[in-house]
This record gives sequence, structure tokens and C-alpha cells, in this order.
Amino acid sequence: MTSDLTEFAASLPKAELHLHLEGSLEPEQMFAFARRNKIDIPFNSVEEIRAAYDFSNLQDFLDIYYQGMGVLQTEEDFFDLTMAYLKRSRADNVRHVEVFFDPQGHTERGLPFSVAVDGISRALAEGEHSLGVTSKLIMCFLRHLSEEEAFETLKQAEPHLDQIAGVGLDSSEVGHPPSKFENVFKAARKQGFALVAHAGEEGPPEYVYEALDLLKVDRLDHGNRSLENDVLVSRLAKEQMTLTVCPLSNLKLCVVDDMRAHPLKKMLDLGLRATINSDDPSYFGGYMMDNFTAVIEALDLSKDDIRTLAKNSFRGSFLSEVEQAAHLAAIDAA
Ligand code: HPA
Ligand code: ZN
Repeated sequence: MTSDLTEFAASLPKAELHLHLEGSLEPEQMFAFARRNKIDIPFNSVEEIRAAYDFSNLQDFLDIYYQGMGVLQTEEDFFDLTMAYLKRSRADNVRHVEVFFDPQGHTERGLPFSVAVDGISRALAEGEHSLGVTSKLIMCFLRHLSEEEAFETLKQAEPHLDQIAGVGLDSSEVGHPPSKFENVFKAARKQGFALVAHAGEEGPPEYVYEALDLLKVDRLDHGNRSLENDVLVSRLAKEQMTLTVCPLSNLKLCVVDDMRAHPLKKMLDLGLRATINSDDPSYFGGYMMDNFTAVIEALDLSKDDIRTLAKNSFRGSFLSEVEQAAHLAAIDAA
């Protein structure tokens, strides 16, 4: 039965809405980029890198994640990174992606803003042309930095408005509530960006309220800890707010102790619009279908749940209703 459900999930068209491109940097690519850019990395083998991916919380992961992205130096690196992710996702029948990148993780190292965005955009266009995977790009502000620095990043994005569809908020959550970024999100909203924010991964339900009421997000990234507050759950269900849930990430960062305790099934039963995503697939143990496989093995998901998850991924996307309808019809026909 499990493998039947996995096959069914694999056969459905899906969208990925929570994916950090820098978190798709595979150890093999880390070596290749380090070599061609003549950068020293503190690892001697792929095995050593994988052994270092032993996290017990978000900050442990972020320390290695920011170190890892240091090998990304040229537009070509960002192009290759993005193309590899798109090819990998297409193999899992992912047909649309809304991907994050962290501009400040690169400008802080002295790269011009345009290097990452131009390399990524070129790959996204190529991916649509050669793989049939459509896409949108979301730039995230690093919440451990100041709002003033986020404003600088928003300014740097101005010549690239045609390449960037949305603004997000990521990095160390606790101690950096959404309220810290209220003004810059307001400015981004005025400029027409779609808005998302990580909230309720490690932070409390109050952070989810702030993301909704102060940042006025169109979609919530993670949102797990919303389940601690019944009033919030009712509101999220009523508003059909999309939650971009990341099961393998939650396991690896100890947001859940065991996949069998993952709240995904409960979220669906509560009527929440949950979706499945891979977050940082190279660091957390896999891509879209690895995440589906893990929850299918651990939770008592039905065929209807799988169909709902696939549909939610398009309903929660920033595609137009007409564009969504084609994918939803294909899911219904499966
Ligand atoms: N949470 C917060 N920040 C991040 C993550 C995440 O899962 N991945 C990359 N930056
Ligand atoms: Zn994330």
C-alpha cells in the first residue's frame, strides 16, 4: 500500500513553494565550485561534508549553510546550481517552483547583487524552456540582520523587479520576530511584491500572528507551531492560508522528534492548506519525492490526502487562477 501511494504521489504534477536554492548545494557541487573558484573549504571528502550535517536545531544548520554558500562566486555557479535543482525536481514531476535565494548571504561576501539574481533568472528561463518547469523567484531578508539592511537589499533589487516576484523572511527565527520587519514589508507590498515569511518553525504562535497581521503575508513558511493555538488554527483554516510544510527539514532540525509525530496529517484533518516542500534538500536528506515518501511511510495518509497535498501546492502558488486550473484538472484526472 505504501509503495502504491508513493507511486501515486510521484505521478501527480506538483509545485514546490519552499526551497532555498543555496540549500540545494550538494557536497559534490561544493567541491566542484570550490575547485573552479580556487576557494579553500574545510572538508576533504563528500563523506566529511555529510558527516558535518549533524544538526540539533536551526542555528546549527544555518552556521554550515552560510559557510557552504561561500563557494558560490560567479553567475555561472548560480546558473549551474539552479539548473541542477530544476532537473532534480522535474524527475519528481514538479512542474512549478517558487524558489528562495538569500541576496544578503552573497552581498555580505562582496558579490554584486546582480551576480546571484542574473545567474538564477537565466536558469529559471532555461528550465521553463527545456524542462517545462515554470517558476517565480523570491528574495529573502535575513532576519538576524537589521531592518535597515533589509531596506538596502530592497533598494538593490529595484533594477531587477522583472526577475523577482516576491519577498520572504528567513534565518534565525527566535529573537527576530516578524514585527522587526514591518516597515520593509510594507514598502515591498507597495512595490507589488508577493509576501511570505518563515514563522512558527522554532518561534511561537505570536510570531505567526505578527506575520499575518503586521507583515500581511500571502503565505506562511513552516507554521508548525500554529497548532499550539486553537484560535489561530481556526483562522488559518478559515482564511485558507497556505502553509509550506517541510517534513524532512522538521526532522533534521528537531522541530519534530520522530516522523511518526509529524503534524502534517493533523493539519490536513483540521482543514489547513498544508503543502509538502524540501526546504534545503541537500542538507536535510532529499527532494520533493523523498519528503512524500517519508510522510507516506510514517503517517496514515490516504489517497485523498495525497491528492489534496498536490492540489494545495498549486492553490498556494502565485500562479494565476487560469494557470492553476490546468494543473488542478490534471491532478483530478490522475
Ligand atoms: N529556516 C530559516 N532559515 C532558513 C531555512 C529554514 O528552514 N533554510 C534556509 N534558511
Ligand atoms: Zn526555509
